[in-house]
Amino acid sequence: MGGGAMGLAAAATLLSGPAAGARTNPSSLKFRQPPHRISDTHQIASGYRADVLIGWGDAVVAGTPAHDLENQTAAAQSGQFGTNNDFIGYLPLPTESRQSAHGLLCVNHEYANAELMWPGLTRSDKFEKMTAAMAAVEMAAHGHSVIEVKRHAGRWSVTSDSRFARRITATTPIRISGPAAGHARLKTAADTTGKQALGTINNCAGGVTPWGTVLIAEENFHGYFTGDPEGTPEAMNHARMGLKGRPWYAWGRFDARFDVSREPREPNRFGWIVEIDPYDPNAVPVKRTALGRFKHEGANVALDISGRAVAYTGDDQANEYLYKFVSKDRMEPARRDANRRLLDKGTLFVARFDSDGTLIWLPLTWGTAPLDQANGFASQADVLIETRRAADLLGATPMDRPEDVEANPVNGRVYVMLTNNTRRDFGDDGANPRGPNPHGHVLEIIPPGAEGEGANNSVGHASPQASWRILLKAGDPSAAHDAEYHPATAEFGSWLAAPDNCAFDNHGRLWIATDQGSKQRRNNIPDGLYGCDVAGPGRALPRLLFACPKGAEMCGPAFTPDNTTLFCAVQHPGEGSTFDAPSTRWPDFDPRRPPRAGVVAITRPDGKPIGE
Ligand code: FEO
Ligand code: CA
Ligand code: CA
Ligand code: CA
Repeated sequence: MGGGAMGLAAAATLLSGPAAGARTNPSSLKFRQPPHRISDTHQIASGYRADVLIGWGDAVVAGTPAHDLENQTAAAQSGQFGTNNDFIGYLPLPTESRQSAHGLLCVNHEYANAELMWPGLTRSDKFEKMTAAMAAVEMAAHGHSVIEVKRHAGRWSVTSDSRFARRITATTPIRISGPAAGHARLKTAADTTGKQALGTINNCAGGVTPWGTVLIAEENFHGYFTGDPEGTPEAMNHARMGLKGRPWYAWGRFDARFDVSREPREPNRFGWIVEIDPYDPNAVPVKRTALGRFKHEGANVALDISGRAVAYTGDDQANEYLYKFVSKDRMEPARRDANRRLLDKGTLFVARFDSDGTLIWLPLTWGTAPLDQANGFASQADVLIETRRAADLLGATPMDRPEDVEANPVNGRVYVMLTNNTRRDFGDDGANPRGPNPHGHVLEIIPPGAEGEGANNSVGHASPQASWRILLKAGDPSAAHDAEYHPATAEFGSWLAAPDNCAFDNHGRLWIATDQGSKQRRNNIPDGLYGCDVAGPGRALPRLLFACPKGAEMCGPAFTPDNTTLFCAVQHPGEGSTFDAPSTRWPDFDPRRPPRAGVVAITRPDGKPIGE
């Protein structure tokens, strides 16, 4: 296996001083970390501040009524900030001198937890107690928000009457484009064209494209469909995507399209990457089928040396795969409209990680065995609709749940957050070195041209081959977790578990957001945001900047261009408890209100960049 962390770390130990007590922190991040303990509220490194900017129910669209917990309506929720914020993209508004003080925040709303939205519900009875009106509120609480934000006198605020303000929900009209658009398997009673979907759901992570749009992922869409999939013509497809007729939501009781016994093809209209133009509030969002259909965690675009767009995207389920899409055409910086079509034509690849440190990208192209008629694929549309089955046939490497996959703009390497996999019971395959792997790891992919430092303009992201190594293996280095970090982690850093989202600062440092889920209590550490050098003497030494309140996971880290602000999303505070007996009431701490997911702006009172 690739043992990168240890080789450099051993050198770092020698560099960082000989005598105990005389050692200095080898990380380039020198802030004093907050306590690595679970708390009712958030915690931030000393010398930093963390301000809640917006949360569930706050107005997004002008004229929206105030959040009324006792009278929630779909109409009001459709103008309010949705719940369970995940991905955040920051897109500057074109006021050159203030591009880090004025911009658009594009925020995903992944899912709804009804037991924390209304009184009188528990996880076990919410399905039967759900009403049509409540289900409509849940649908409106999903999707995406675009808000305009400004910084004045050090503080961020939301512009209340912005012309950019927008909500996208589970019922917003969305165009379907690319090779699968219009295919018979995407047609339903409500859409006989197969090109007009309604809504986007379970939007987890995403990315900002180099041409100024946002990509948002449809992840666990299988949990929204009632009805027995086995009797449908899509039985094999639905089974491979995990549809079992035992949904998390009762929507199918009230809306036929979420019942596969009545509308067997509706699930085929989810599981895609959706492109949004936040600068045009009237632009119809587009599902880009060329990027494949699976439980997309996110999608992040890097430019190949040729100028072609390469979108890295992971399928976040145990033993699923890592993908990249390479556009046929080149990005043209001056032609924004042309770039809007880049993700419709190109080649989708899936990763095979060989144990010798080589990564082979296998093309998912119809017409060549095994992706042909003999295996039931009649066209490229079939390959895209059933991407997982096509990847199985090519012999892709089953991964430990790929979450964010993102190219580092400084060194050109691609970092893969593999969150965990307790269903891995087979041996070491190198790129997934532990089985089971309850704490996750971070892989570093080195495309051609990214072997050295600072070569981001000449990287072969489109290349069919790359090399790989392990950056870190998460878990407690002082316990029997087989963790692997910089050896000074216990002394100068904080261990982490379940890496999920990531971002890079202008020095190329990796910022990792974690999501331990129900294992937060067992691990007895909060989820949070960790900064980590990927080069130099502090490589693979994570340092905690921000810790989430109890029950929450950390999502969406997004820097302003000058790095003076780091936005992050606190998702599902109080998860595992109920509206009636919440485990925290973050961020309001009002005895009449449940916890609310919200976006936090991390800044420094001295105005300096984060981590300087
Ligand atoms: Fe929604 Fe993969 O986390
Ligand atoms: Ca995630
Ligand atoms: Ca990211
Ligand atoms: Ca997550």
